Amino acid sequence: MSKIDVLLGLQWGDEGKGKVVDVLTPNYQLVARFQGGPNAGHTLVFEDRKHVLHTVPSGIFRSSAKNLIGNGVVIDPIVLQKELRTLHDNGVDTKNRLMISEKAHLILPTHRMLDAASEKAKGKDKIGSTLKGIGPAYMDKTGRNGLRIGDTQHATFLEKYEALKKKHIQLLKAYDVIPDNSFVEEENAWFAAIDSIKELPLVSGEYYIHQCLQKQQRILAEGAQGSLLDIDFGTYPYVTSSNTTCAGACTGLGLPPSAIGNVIGIFKAYCTRVGSGPFPTELHDEIGNSIREKGKEFGSTTGRARRCGWLDLPALKFACMINGITELIMMKSDVLGGIPKINVCTAYNIEGRLQDTLPYQFENQKVEPIYKELDGWGSLDQVKYFRDLPASLQQYIRLIEDYVQVPVTLVSTGPGREQTLFR
Ligand code: IMP
Repeated sequence: MSKIDVLLGLQWGDEGKGKVVDVLTPNYQLVARFQGGPNAGHTLVFEDRKHVLHTVPSGIFRSSAKNLIGNGVVIDPIVLQKELRTLHDNGVDTKNRLMISEKAHLILPTHRMLDAASEKAKGKDKIGSTLKGIGPAYMDKTGRNGLRIGDTQHATFLEKYEALKKKHIQLLKAYDVIPDNSFVEEENAWFAAIDSIKELPLVSGEYYIHQCLQKQQRILAEGAQGSLLDIDFGTYPYVTSSNTTCAGACTGLGLPPSAIGNVIGIFKAYCTRVGSGPFPTELHDEIGNSIREKGKEFGSTTGRARRCGWLDLPALKFACMINGITELIMMKSDVLGGIPKINVCTAYNIEGRLQDTLPYQFENQKVEPIYKELDGWGSLDQVKYFRDLPASLQQYIRLIEDYVQVPVTLVSTGPGREQTLFR
């Protein structure tokens, strides 16, 4: 049997997984997304066009690969329908390239309302959710009340939908929210979207993927969000509601751990975060602003400005440990080009104690990053090969490798497919 490679973000999401999956897809026959939902926004740029995917795996643009939305994903039919339309308008043949696992759960219109109501009720402690209904949908999944896409094939679907909606309306009342007239329209759009996505094959994802393995096919499991947003190991409670780490590929696709081959971790040469929650190396100065502008660090799902800061090595090492990362991909090194001195966090000073491991929580104590200062580098526009990267950037890469003990095998120097330097 062949093995599955897993590709994950190692920070707080938005590391550039979409671009890398697209670049690597020619090596794979199947790309399978294993968790998250339309809170994700995977941006790909090629042929001078920008494409943003929310639910569809990033292998969709290459005709050589099939794509699977795994059981661990939560699907909003309305978002998926829009995505499919846009892909279709761009000439992408989704019908023959995309399948959905029948066990994937559905996001209902009332899940979105519950998400908004719960965030509002949290006030200043809000998570900064994308408000796509992710948390409530996963709550219903683990609470054993959820609706799965496979249920749409059965006569009891409407009955199950009504029962769940009734429960949600009761919950919304507790938040003083009563659905208005626009809700009926939204509900109609939701059912229409379900009808339209029925053109895609619903499959038993776990059997399908095992058949691919038996046929010795090469498979890439694509994660969404990042390790520091993992429900168990992220900066809880400022996290998303799924396991974004490698273990999520097993439960989100029906894979045994022994089927996992390479675990490819993606990180940016700096850090960003959207939404609330701790961010020890955050920059509130001109450098932070320039990284945001140059790196176009604005959410592809919500448009929110991303918080920006220096690379955090203790956090990166933690993510490598939890995921068993076998190789690293560094994104957006070009964005730091032109900054004379670059800082990298190598430890934290927590109330006078130095440590290079992540604390139980960052809140309610003074956490000061300890930095190592390195020389910066200039423009990378003309660099075509890894070996031609400026010496200071090579030194930056060596420092990272020495610290986390995992090799960097690819460096991305811009959004285009061709700005990808293999080592
Ligand atoms: P939710 O998953 O939409 O509820 O959001 C929970 C937290 O995860 C918020 O801080 C979001 O900003 C963050 N988040 C969710 N999805 C993404 C993503 O794809 N990239 C970056 N942050 C995300």
